Amino acid sequence: MSEIRKAAVIGAGVMGAGIAAHIANAGVEVLLLDIVPEGATNRSAIAEKAVERLLKAEPAAFMSKRNAKLVKAGNIEDDLAALAECDWIVEAVVERLDVKQALYRKIDAVRKPGTAVSSNTSTIPLAALTEGLSDGFRRDFLITHFFNPPRYMRLLEIVSGPETDPATVARVSTFADVKLGKTVVTCKDTPGFIANRLGTYWMQLAVGEAFALGLTVEEADSVMGRPFGIPKTGVFGLLDLVGLDLMPHVQGSLERALPKDDPFQKTVRDIPLIRTMIETGLIGRKGKGGFYRLNREGGGKVKEAIDLASGGYRREEKARLPEVEAAAKNVGALLGAATPSGRYAVSVMARTLAYAAWLVPAAADDVVAIDDAMRLGYNWKWGPFELIDRIGAPTLITALEGMGEPVPEFLTLARDKTFYRVENGKRQHLGRDGTYRDIVRPEGVLLLSDIKLTAQPVLKNGSAAVWDLGDGVLCFEFTSKSNSLDEGIIALLGKASKLVKDKHKALVIYNEGSNFSVGANLGLALFACNIAAFGEVEKLVAAGQQAYQALKYAPFPVVSAPAGMALGGGCEILLHSDAVQAHAESYIGLVECGVGVLPGWGGCKEMLTRWQTDPALPKGPMPAPSKVFEMVSTATVSKSAAEAKEYKFLRESDGITMNRDRLLADAKAKAIALAENYVPPKPVDLTLPGPSGRVALEMAAESFHKRGIATKHDLVVASALAEVLTGGPADHIQPVTEAQVLELERAGFMKLIRTNATLARIESVLETGRPLRN
Ligand code: NAI
Repeated sequence: MSEIRKAAVIGAGVMGAGIAAHIANAGVEVLLLDIVPEGATNRSAIAEKAVERLLKAEPAAFMSKRNAKLVKAGNIEDDLAALAECDWIVEAVVERLDVKQALYRKIDAVRKPGTAVSSNTSTIPLAALTEGLSDGFRRDFLITHFFNPPRYMRLLEIVSGPETDPATVARVSTFADVKLGKTVVTCKDTPGFIANRLGTYWMQLAVGEAFALGLTVEEADSVMGRPFGIPKTGVFGLLDLVGLDLMPHVQGSLERALPKDDPFQKTVRDIPLIRTMIETGLIGRKGKGGFYRLNREGGGKVKEAIDLASGGYRREEKARLPEVEAAAKNVGALLGAATPSGRYAVSVMARTLAYAAWLVPAAADDVVAIDDAMRLGYNWKWGPFELIDRIGAPTLITALEGMGEPVPEFLTLARDKTFYRVENGKRQHLGRDGTYRDIVRPEGVLLLSDIKLTAQPVLKNGSAAVWDLGDGVLCFEFTSKSNSLDEGIIALLGKASKLVKDKHKALVIYNEGSNFSVGANLGLALFACNIAAFGEVEKLVAAGQQAYQALKYAPFPVVSAPAGMALGGGCEILLHSDAVQAHAESYIGLVECGVGVLPGWGGCKEMLTRWQTDPALPKGPMPAPSKVFEMVSTATVSKSAAEAKEYKFLRESDGITMNRDRLLADAKAKAIALAENYVPPKPVDLTLPGPSGRVALEMAAESFHKRGIATKHDLVVASALAEVLTGGPADHIQPVTEAQVLELERAGFMKLIRTNATLARIESVLETGRPLRN
């Protein structure tokens, strides 16, 4: 049995339901079972309700609502026999050994031999779970520990036992990696595995020390956040997010399960304020507030924070600590600062990093596993060992000695070394024996960051670079701030095209930023408009149009590979590519109208073409402009790559890669396949309705305005967009060529960018991240 074609998840609670939805996101049918509620007429009510909840979940659990059809709800009494058809059974029932074991016996009686069975337990050792179960069951059993929410958290911790068949582990790991997009981290069978053990240690210490050293929650979070590459929620903000009520459970189970001499035990403190907060429902964002809250009394919205000494709320005050600001350049200096925040930083982080060093080899085979777990499970920018390399092991050792803390042997070993290094173009990590070993990437993983270790770009300017991926494929990388599109990118696209034409076969547009591209550089556009350099803006619109048209009609294939946001001009580049290989978590949209302009680099033209050729739409010139108008005027952004297909930001034939690390390899393979006998596309003329159609679209916008949804300036923008989408002011210009639509886009864009209301919107986006509603 080599593939997982059908799966089952037992336990339709928070985790089970989320895991089932994500298995469905992989296109695999999944049975979701729960208990039969006492006296229920609908015996599968729990699982059915779970699917209904999944459909409403925010952020969405399904990548497309259509995936819900792949989840079959049932119950463990009537549907148990169906487990015989499954290749993988995931148990996600309550965290009780007796309940889990009783269930395993039932599963073992019906499953076919070789079916993998895994538990999502957070704390129960594998050895305890499998005690007394059949040999066959023990061979096929492992722990797969997902993080919440399962769709979005990339970490999957896997634990196998001495009797687990390595082939079973490999089968589940490969499925989790390739189909579910997870980074699999192998853990030992120890309490809390890696991320929760280290994460809870860090959180407990960070909370306890903030109380002990008399810091405010804002000060503590500013130290425990950005300086260490930790999300800016720091520790108190994070507790509000996950819920304070969960903490005593996680803490308690680790305290009970870990040996008495484990450093974890020293972090356990009883904090009366936290007890009171939980008792009074101040459990964080899902409750009445937590360490922070939004006070809406008297109709206002005041951000408040709790005073750790008195337990009362007061107005939130952002911490402005010079040593924290200086830490951006040198985090080691923060650890050495003789201030309360410096003492806090050292007391929490030096101990946490030391604990990480204790965990090799106790909980993990190597530093890579620990770093992956903390980066992906807790969203740390750097794993603990990457942090130690930034701080310097000697600085950390001195800090630990200064506090009278023992120094882990592994850390002493790294005193005159680093945990990571690059040797002969390969990234390596330090082992417990003091030697370095290569970090081996699984087959099918290709990273630009690895290529950069040895190669130089073949072309480069201040906004973009071009890399040789081998096999005749070049990779175009945006390097500008937030990967925003500017003159530099447009200029280098031209040079890259020439280079591919002369010497290569295909071009892939890809980068490893958190977002593919947030669109055109609004700061530059605003600057040009403020000095009335409209001619410059117009030149950039024309240059962008030309560059994108050139990509579309180039004599070689162009494959774009987005991940994260691909907005505005970033979306338009996808629309002009021959094919797209998108990461499953791609958020794609033409958002220009939100800032008061319209897509000017061919976005309107391409969307009209795609919708016009959709056989499912009624015939005639109106349906395609109506559809595009509906999406573009409301700045619709897809919430996944699958949803982007529904909007036609992606074609049905475009590929989706679940694992971010596999995106470049998949895009490259697609480019190579397309290069074989490549023929560029032929221009398609459009049939558009003209002014009567424009009036219809304007009326639709007017009705939104009357309902208070669209603002006054939205109407101006909608009217300009309607004019482009319906073919312009002339009555009978059918068929409309691509060049004509591009000309309309340029004119419409220029008309809008000259209005003060649009400039005010752009200014507001740059200042607050949100457009003004004017
Ligand atoms: P939950 O309480 O939301 O859901 C548990 C579900 O199991 C309930 O729907 C319950 O009716 C069902 N159930 C109980 N006994 C059953 C049985 N014999 N057969 C079938 N269904 C049964 O719990 P949650 O949070 O989803 O946790 C499930 C498992 O996942 C636990 O082992 C937990 O430790 C683990 N976990 C939880 C995480 C979280 O963030 N909540 C994260 C990672 C792991």
